[in-house]
Amino acid sequence: MVLSHKLDSWYTDFGRTLPWRGIDDPYRIWLSEIILQQTRIEQGRDYYARFVESFPTVSDLASATEEQVLRLWQGLGYYSRARNLHAAARYIVEHHQGVFPSVYEDILKLKGVGRYTAAAIASFAFRLPYPVIDGNVYRFISRLYGITTPIATDAAYKEFESLLLKQIDRKRPDRFNAALMDFGSLQCKPQPDCGVCPFADECVALKSGRVDLLPVKAPKAKPKDRWFYYFDLRWQENGTFYTLMEQRDGKDIWRGLYQFPLLETAEELNGKQLQAEAENFVQNNFQFSISNFQLSPPFLHQLTHRTIHALFLRAELPSRPTSMPENFTVIPVSGIKNIPVSRLIDRYLHSL
Ligand code: ADE
Repeated sequence: MVLSHKLDSWYTDFGRTLPWRGIDDPYRIWLSEIILQQTRIEQGRDYYARFVESFPTVSDLASATEEQVLRLWQGLGYYSRARNLHAAARYIVEHHQGVFPSVYEDILKLKGVGRYTAAAIASFAFRLPYPVIDGNVYRFISRLYGITTPIATDAAYKEFESLLLKQIDRKRPDRFNAALMDFGSLQCKPQPDCGVCPFADECVALKSGRVDLLPVKAPKAKPKDRWFYYFDLRWQENGTFYTLMEQRDGKDIWRGLYQFPLLETAEELNGKQLQAEAENFVQNNFQFSISNFQLSPPFLHQLTHRTIHALFLRAELPSRPTSMPENFTVIPVSGIKNIPVSRLIDRYLHSL
């Protein structure tokens, strides 16, 4: 069976028309792929249009301030995507004279670009034969060939990539990849209608009654519970309220985002423990003796590997702390809306 022939004819009939299809400007294709990483197509369309209008070229994006980029991104979440986008635009101007790189390995080096996104850009913009592999593609291909390797592992990636490299249409890898994306999301859905599938006569899963059993997913580690106690410490200067925030470092999904001073524990603290820990925390970090904290309602925040139980402790300080750990920044409360914060912090701020 030649996968690409049937896929291509299905794509001719059912492929989606999208603003970033049928163009070959790598900058716009990149922009669309970064937006679509964690965003549905319908929501992504508007943002794509606004970005293209505000920043028609990679140099325009590089010349913008980070704040302008983040403001345009507002509402999409996962702000690290916007930060990476901006940093990569500047990198392209500095290291590639503003010309978008056309070699797969160079595209992969851009911040925020993984294998899937690099393959999408390389194929759509430069017609290079790199297959896109994501959850939709795993589902379609594992069913078609009856592959039981647990997906989203390194072993599975290699196996599916090597199979697709044999099947990809080398003259039109762009069409092949677009068709693969659309087929996986429109036809070979989690609950597919196999009665109208062009691969029904050869799909191993369908023929062996295993459509519901494929793809095989690697068992997920159970999310760990964590308790986050955030301190919203405010004081007034000339009628303006200020608070303290730090930019989160490390390697997690919140890196680069601002947060309130945080006390993190692996066990829940009872009322008495919390009071004692909180007093200590504020004393040790900011040299204030505070015992009167106002507690927020609990916020539950589900991440892929963590279940976060968050409480926010608000207190008024008599004045600006004269000493604090150097990673903290003084922020006017009215200015928090201009800096990137996690959805959890955003939920708290909106609850006030
Ligand atoms: N998902 C990720 N990239 C996409 C694209 N280019 N078209 C449709 N869906 C996508």
